[in-house]
Amino acid sequence: MEFKAICKAVIQDVEGVKTFVFKSKNKLSFEPGQFVSLLLPGSNGNIVRSYTISSAPTGSDLFSLTVRAVPEGLGSNWLHNELHAGMDLSFSGPFGHFIPSQNEDSKLLLLAAGSGITPHLSTLRHWRNQAAEVNAHLIFSVRSPDQIIEQQELLALVKQIPGLTLTVIPENVTGHVWHGISGRLDPLWLNALVRDIKEREVYICGPAPYMAAVKEYLTGCHFDLQHYHEEAFVSPEQPSVNQHNNDSTSYKVNFARSGISVNSNGNESLLEIAEKAGVAVKNACRSGICGACRTLKTAGSVNMQDLGGILPDEVNQGMVLLCCSQPSSDVVLDI
Ligand code: FES
Repeated sequence: MEFKAICKAVIQDVEGVKTFVFKSKNKLSFEPGQFVSLLLPGSNGNIVRSYTISSAPTGSDLFSLTVRAVPEGLGSNWLHNELHAGMDLSFSGPFGHFIPSQNEDSKLLLLAAGSGITPHLSTLRHWRNQAAEVNAHLIFSVRSPDQIIEQQELLALVKQIPGLTLTVIPENVTGHVWHGISGRLDPLWLNALVRDIKEREVYICGPAPYMAAVKEYLTGCHFDLQHYHEEAFVSPEQPSVNQHNNDSTSYKVNFARSGISVNSNGNESLLEIAEKAGVAVKNACRSGICGACRTLKTAGSVNMQDLGGILPDEVNQGMVLLCCSQPSSDVVLDI
């Protein structure tokens, strides 16, 4: 769904993180853990960036995004430096399937690092609003004690939600008064903090190396990965970069309906190739998650690195996600 929303407030959180409150024209329906994509002005034309909704779904027209300014990040820096109350932006979404179970019997482990707390904030706020009783442990890894996003509210949420446990682990406590555990979340800490980890449904959001380390640990202790869910991106700032083709091979990409053919060295995504060729393609997350750029491929082969935005049946029918696919032969697309 595409919609417009007006920025109602910009709130400074910890250093480098701001919360942007928006009011959409109509009520916005979403699940905790979902994200929206924004069309933002870039130096070479508009850019699309996706951010997780940090507010709870209340059925109202208000929602918020909590965003860390990433060095070199076009989207996050535009939001931090240019966006102010009263400005209109174009959105699409909500997207995503990172939605923690609310089954009373579920034992949950929520893991977050840095601004990866945002989907969990939405979930916790939702639980509070629903007066839910849960069995959930949130482990929040931060760089230092002054980087705990929404610290006061998190502490309040622990008191308001029966069955919620919170552990905050700052990596570096130098210069701070800190009485809890500190350092990196490693297997020893995870095992000590969550003795029944194998019985829990795990929802993790944070930088890729952090998620990879946790997944490696879980795999090593024979955790059933069917119960492991990761939010595959945190404020993605770069178009997806896939494999790099070092040889001089050139592939022809034919946009059949548009009557346009271009050559590619296989290092750009089909979405980037289409945009350069002037072929309009619907897109949102640009990360292989939302499915907006799904297109029928009628000939050729691609390397597709999707993150769940396409179903196996659709792949069998010849569909591809252009944003996360690079040509690996001459390709014909039905656009
Ligand atoms: S734009 Fe979202 S999957 Fe391609």
